[in-house]
Amino acid sequence: MISLRPATRADTQAINRIYNQPSVRRFTDGLPFTSLTESARFCCSTEARISLLACGTDGAVLGEASLGRRSLARLAHTGSLGLMVAEEARRQGIARTLLTALLDMADNWLNLKRLDLGVFVNNEAAIMLYKSIGFEIEATPRHYAMQDGVLADCHFMARLRPSVAVDQSRPPPRPAPTARKPFTLRAVEPEDIAALAEIMNQPGVRHGTLVTPFVTEESLKHIVQPEDGSHVIGAVVEGRLTGFAMLTPGKGRRLHSAYLPALVVHDAYHGQGIGHALLAAALDIADNWLGLARVDLAVMADNHHAIRLYETFGFEAEGRIRGDVFCNGAYADSLTMARLR
Ligand SMILES: CC(C)(COP(=O)(O)OP(=O)(O)OC[C@H]1O[C@@H](n2cnc3c(N)ncnc32)[C@H](O)[C@@H]1OP(=O)(O)O)[C@@H](O)C(=O)NCCC(=O)NCCS
Repeated sequence: MISLRPATRADTQAINRIYNQPSVRRFTDGLPFTSLTESARFCCSTEARISLLACGTDGAVLGEASLGRRSLARLAHTGSLGLMVAEEARRQGIARTLLTALLDMADNWLNLKRLDLGVFVNNEAAIMLYKSIGFEIEATPRHYAMQDGVLADCHFMARLRPSVAVDQSRPPPRPAPTARKPFTLRAVEPEDIAALAEIMNQPGVRHGTLVTPFVTEESLKHIVQPEDGSHVIGAVVEGRLTGFAMLTPGKGRRLHSAYLPALVVHDAYHGQGIGHALLAAALDIADNWLGLARVDLAVMADNHHAIRLYETFGFEAEGRIRGDVFCNGAYADSLTMARLR
């Protein structure tokens, strides 16, 4: 069984090991004896360069695929792919599994229109794979790079996003309700980061928030250690964080108000009153401890459960933002809601 997860700095050694294997070097841009320091530059999944690892049942890293996003505004719709699988783990479908996850990310969550890559013309395995998932050869630059002691030719291949018929009314995934368990509320702490990452990687949570698949712990640090004065309240079941609410007080001429950037409950704990309790606690801070006059938020327009919850606490929709968020293959509307005291 292969599982996928984002790469972190702690994976540098494992990635470096594969990158230095002779057959990987031969078909990539690696040089002999690539150091850990050099590898560390690209061994961490970030917004700009998503790096996915394929791991075996024992946790060993067996492959890596990356999706680099271009920062120039006029190239922001494009991305480039990189791929390697450990010599001892080939022909088990690892490369295909990694690329399938990255294509889903590019098509359905990041809205990239074009993916490209470079591949040596004698890399038959990779070319077969890329063709089978829709990549086409666009150019064959001659004497492109050194390989086996000679200047070798390379193919530039690209895949344009297939136009898909999108069902705009597709409901967000709803997990089956589980048995109720007692929960308590407390402040969220830095030690909660792993549990938080698990929450943010739930399909239902993703649908209702702005996160992409395979979100990293690193990218969630602003929640467990906020530096903008946000209040973050967690719900805990059997010692484990299962949801949180975040309240960010306004600044300057918006000192009277706060924004609720997140109210999130783990998919397996929906329908148990946790979201209700978290929202009540956040509004208690706003009303009774900060004396705020206004709390506002944004919610996906098809997130009827959340909208109903907000209305219970007196939030009203103030407008509909059309095509605000790209979500699972489609542009989705959001509602902006506010509650005045
Ligand atoms: C290319 C590479 C990533 C394939 O990894 P893999 O995990 O063995 O590939 P998969 O098992 O997922 O196979 C996917 C497809 O690749 C192709 N493929 C893989 N190995 C192949 C081989 N030895 N001969 C022909 N086709 C092959 C097939 O189309 C296969 O689909 P199929 O199993 O339905 O026939 C791996 O050989 C590798 O890491 N090579 C060195 C680094 C590299 O070349 N990276 C790409 C740089 S552009």
